[in-house]
Amino acid sequence: MKVLFSNLVLPKAKIVVIAISDALKLGAISAKLDEKTGGALKKAIKAGSFKGKKGEVLSVIAPTAVTQDIIILIGIGKEDDINDLVGQSVGGKITATLNGLKVKSAEIIVENTPEDKILAANIAYGVSLRSYDFNKYRTRQKKEDKPTLNEIGVLVKNSDKVKSQFATYEKICKGVFLTRDVVTEPSNELHPESYAQVIKKEFTGAGLSVKILNEKQLTKLGMGALLGVGQGSIRESHVVAIEYKGDKSDKTTPVAFVGKGVTFDTGGISIKPSAGMEEMKYDMGGSAVVVGLMKALAGRKAKVNAVGIVGLVENMPGHNAQRPGDVVKSMSGQTIEVLNTDAEGRLVLADILWYAQEKYKPKTVVNLATLTGAIVVALGSEYAGMFSNNDKLCDRLSSAAEKTDEKLWRFPLSDAYDKLIDSPIADMQNISSGRGAGSITAAQFLQRFIQKGTAWAHLDIAGVTWAKKDMDTCPKGATAFGVRLLDKFVADNYEK
Ligand code: BES
Ligand code: ZN
Ligand code: ZN
Repeated sequence: MKVLFSNLVLPKAKIVVIAISDALKLGAISAKLDEKTGGALKKAIKAGSFKGKKGEVLSVIAPTAVTQDIIILIGIGKEDDINDLVGQSVGGKITATLNGLKVKSAEIIVENTPEDKILAANIAYGVSLRSYDFNKYRTRQKKEDKPTLNEIGVLVKNSDKVKSQFATYEKICKGVFLTRDVVTEPSNELHPESYAQVIKKEFTGAGLSVKILNEKQLTKLGMGALLGVGQGSIRESHVVAIEYKGDKSDKTTPVAFVGKGVTFDTGGISIKPSAGMEEMKYDMGGSAVVVGLMKALAGRKAKVNAVGIVGLVENMPGHNAQRPGDVVKSMSGQTIEVLNTDAEGRLVLADILWYAQEKYKPKTVVNLATLTGAIVVALGSEYAGMFSNNDKLCDRLSSAAEKTDEKLWRFPLSDAYDKLIDSPIADMQNISSGRGAGSITAAQFLQRFIQKGTAWAHLDIAGVTWAKKDMDTCPKGATAFGVRLLDKFVADNYEK
C-alpha cells in the first residue's frame, strides 16, 4: 500500500473519503467540496440515517460539477473518544469499503477535529493493516476477487508531522505482515529447515544477528525435550536466536521473547482427529510473533536490546516418532514422561526457555505459544491467556494490550495445579493427571523451566492467532496478534 500525505487542499482524486465525527460538521475543505457539489454532501447527511458513528459509511454519488465520482463519508464517532484505536479501525473500514467498490486509489480528508494528527496517522495505519493479502499460490484468481486498493493520499494539516508518525507505524506493519505471511504458509513449504532460512534471510542488517542451531548442536546442549518432538519428522529441528542490539550503550542483558514454532502439529502418535487438522499449520504462531516483533523493532530502530528465540519442529507420527510413555531429559536436567505426544508445545518451550535464560540471562522473558485447545474454550478469539510469576510484568503487558486492542486475560498459577503434573517415574509428566484446567497445567509445566529471579509471562495465543472472519484491521486468516502488543510493551517499558 502506497501512502502519501499532503496538506489540506481540494482533493483531485476520483474517489474521496471524508472522516467526520458524530457532530456531523464538515471542515473547511470538505465544506468547499460540498459547495462545489451544490450541497450534495450536506443534503445526503440530512436526508439519511447517517449519524457519524465510528465506522459508519455513507456513499454519495458526486454530481458532474466536480472531478469526483464518489464521495464517501466515514464516521469517526465522538470527538472526545478519538484515540489511536479509533483511527486504526476507521482506516481498516476504509480499506474494506474501497476494495468493495473496486477502487484502486483514493484521497482521505482528515480535518476539523482537535485530534487530526493522531487520527490521520492511525487511519493510514489501519488502511495498511487491513490491506494484507496472501495470494502467492493462486495462479488464476479472478480480477474481481483481488483487493484493488493500492494507493491512498491523506490530506491533513501539518502533514509532515503525520508522515513521520506514520513512518513508525509502517515499520510495525511490516513486522505484522511478516508474521501473517509465515503463519499462512502451508507446512510443506514452511518446515523447520526452510523456516530457519526464511528468518536468516529476513534479518541480515544493522544491529541484528541470527544464530541457527541444528540437531547436532541441540543434542550437545541436551535439548532432549525439543528433539523428542521433532524426531518423527524428516525435517531437522532447529532453534533460531535473533539478537537485536538497538542500544549499544546499554550493558545490561536483553529482554527475551520466546516462541513455539511447531510448523505442523499432527499430534504425533497421539494423533489428532483429521477434521480441522489443517489448522495446525498455524501452530508456529508464537514463533511468528517473535519474528515479526523483531522485524518491527529493528525496522523502527527501537532503542532496546532484545533477543527472540524460536524452537522450530514438526510433530509427526512415523517409525521414528516419540511414543506415549517415553521419558526424555530436558536441557535443564529435569526428566519428563511424555504421556501424550500432542502436548508437544510445552516440551519445545521447556528447552528454549531454559536455553534463553542460560545463554542470555534476561531479567524478563515473555513467551508466546498456540499451546492449548483449552484456552480457546475459555476465551474464544477475543482475549489471549496470560500466565505469569510477576504482577508488575502483567501490569505492563495488560497496559500495552489495552492500547493495541490485543487483549490479555490473566489466569492463576498455584502449587495445587503444579502437583497435577508430577509423574510416578520421572520429574514430571507432560499432561495433567486430573481433568480440567488444561491451560493452567500447561503453564505450570512451563514454569518448572523458569529460573529463580526471572520475571516471566506466558501468552497462550491458540484462540487469537487465526481469525475465522474479517476484523477491522485484519482480513480473516492470520492475525499476527501479539506483534503490536509486544512492540508497545517494549516501547513503553524498555526504550530510552
Ligand atoms: N497445538 C495444540 C493446541 C491448539 C489447539 C492450538 C487449537 C491451536 C488451536 C497443542 O499442541 C495441543 O495439541 N494441545 C493439546 C494438549 C492436550 C493433549 C493436553 C490440547 O489442547 O488438546
Ligand atoms: Zn499438540
Ligand atoms: Zn501444538
